[in-house]
Amino acid sequence: MRINTLNFPAKLGISGFLITVVLGALSAATLIGLLYSKHSSGFNIPEMDKVQAHYGESILISAMKGSMYEYVAEDGDIDVLTQWIADGAKDDEFFANEVMYIIEEDCQNCHSRNSQMSKAITSMPFSSYEDIVQYTDAGYSWTAMAKSAHIHLFGIAVFLIIVSLVMAFSSYVTWVKTLLISAGWVALWMDIASWWLAKFFSGFAYVIAAAGSVEIGAVCAMSGLCLLDMWFRLPAVVLESATED
Ligand code: HEC
Repeated sequence: MRINTLNFPAKLGISGFLITVVLGALSAATLIGLLYSKHSSGFNIPEMDKVQAHYGESILISAMKGSMYEYVAEDGDIDVLTQWIADGAKDDEFFANEVMYIIEEDCQNCHSRNSQMSKAITSMPFSSYEDIVQYTDAGYSWTAMAKSAHIHLFGIAVFLIIVSLVMAFSSYVTWVKTLLISAGWVALWMDIASWWLAKFFSGFAYVIAAAGSVEIGAVCAMSGLCLLDMWFRLPAVVLESATED
């Protein structure tokens, strides 16, 4: 059976699914670009130092370099907090004098239990050592990572198996099918494995970026190729001869 021999309603249903998957992949790419760049709209290329900060550094530091950067009075403030965390994030004099001073000046306007600011976040107060120290663990917390990893793995597996099967029953030569289907699955495992590895070796941030791009590329390529196969006559060079299976 080939997808280009299906009846019209079946082709319509599969096309709707594939187009939706491509739109989902593009939304994911947009979200990633926005999270890891200074921009707040449009389609952006992620900046590697932000990706590294997100996966390899504490939430506190990665927020100061990323989403909270506009509130940091000077870059030296980030260095002071980085130093404090590197030295074990202790409840010592350095914390009381240096760290707490920066938090009071830059952050407490919003990060306090009774802030009146319109952009306040009373659920994440930075009023005491206990409030702050919980955000100093390197990388994503294990809980946040496990949550995100299982949602990604289950969610992507469900649509990837469908896209893989549609691709498998397309008319393209076998090596193209094998390449794209394997790329989709291997990139998924490498991406998520690297989230954890980046906690320990910041170089894995590059694997995250590369594997994520391959993942989105493979899914869009398979969906696009299958749409072409169902609705257009393709040149014989890219197709498997009909007698092969
Ligand atoms: C104008 C108000 C405001 C100021 C000032 C502010 N924040 Fe925030 N912060 C927020 C809001 C609102 C959120 C939740 C939404 C978001 O992430 O943008 C937040 C979220 C965060 C998070 C969680 C981000 C995550 O990825 O989960 C951290 C960490 C953080 N802020 C740290 C800081 C630090 C450190 C400062 C001082 C340098 C600071 N914030 C200054 C309003 C503020």
